[in-house]
Amino acid sequence: MNSPLGESRRILKIDDAHMVIFDDFRNVKLNEKVDLIFADPPFGIGFKGNLQTYHRTPDALSYVEVPQEEYPDFIRSLAKWSYDALKDSGSMWLLSGWNNLRHVLEAVEEAGFTQLNHVIWKYQFGVFTRRRFTTSHYHLLLLVKDLSDYTFNKPEHYAEDVWYIKRPYQHGVKTAGNELPDELVERCIKTSSNPGDLVVDPVLGSGTTMKACLKLNRRCIGIEINPALEERIKTKLGLDLFLKNSPT
Ligand SMILES: C[S@@+](CC[C@H](N)C(=O)[O-])C[C@H]1O[C@@H](n2cnc3c(N)ncnc32)[C@H](O)[C@@H]1O
Repeated sequence: MNSPLGESRRILKIDDAHMVIFDDFRNVKLNEKVDLIFADPPFGIGFKGNLQTYHRTPDALSYVEVPQEEYPDFIRSLAKWSYDALKDSGSMWLLSGWNNLRHVLEAVEEAGFTQLNHVIWKYQFGVFTRRRFTTSHYHLLLLVKDLSDYTFNKPEHYAEDVWYIKRPYQHGVKTAGNELPDELVERCIKTSSNPGDLVVDPVLGSGTTMKACLKLNRRCIGIEINPALEERIKTKLGLDLFLKNSPT
């Protein structure tokens, strides 16, 4: 399908306000400035959820990892791409594990962002380890371009920066490499955008951000390099059932 951007690439159009572009985000130029970017990039730690990396052919429900030596450049491109795509009043939620955090912090500063918050997401437990502590937290950076003009819908009177949110276990469901809890993504989107705003996730994965935007009435563009995730995205959004039940 030809995209409204004038190039030929696979696009999953959900409705006029929601679409997924299957491509490397670095190839995508948006024709509208964005209110919020939510990005949960690959870890860059040789994550084997999919047994493959960037330069190999993606397979079903796989996860495209970035080789560790390429991570600093990758995250720099993501930070710069996001900064350029945002409105002056826009914000970004950027997620990171602790391993590559130093590269992420450097990249966002270099791009021009100001860090508004550094939220810790504490999940119920991580992978068992023998000779070090088990990692059971993640870093959520809330970034803005202009400290005097950004959206912040405070979720509760005393809103703290440590969030306890359980990872969902989806027994018997084929999921993508690493899917975030709906509750976490919804909390970020509600806090940093308003209904009708344009939200972009340049590393969409299974479509959690799209699902949250459909529920919360935000417009959304998702970008995902791995076309094999289309089926998972459709399942997550309930589009497979919709398509099965629609008259031909
Ligand atoms: C950690 S996962 C995102 C998970 C997502 N938040 C969810 O809840 O399902 C990162 C995603 O980035 C994708 N990705 C890696 N490099 C990319 C690139 N250059 N452009 C777009 N997507 C990319 C991977 O295929 C993977 O699906």
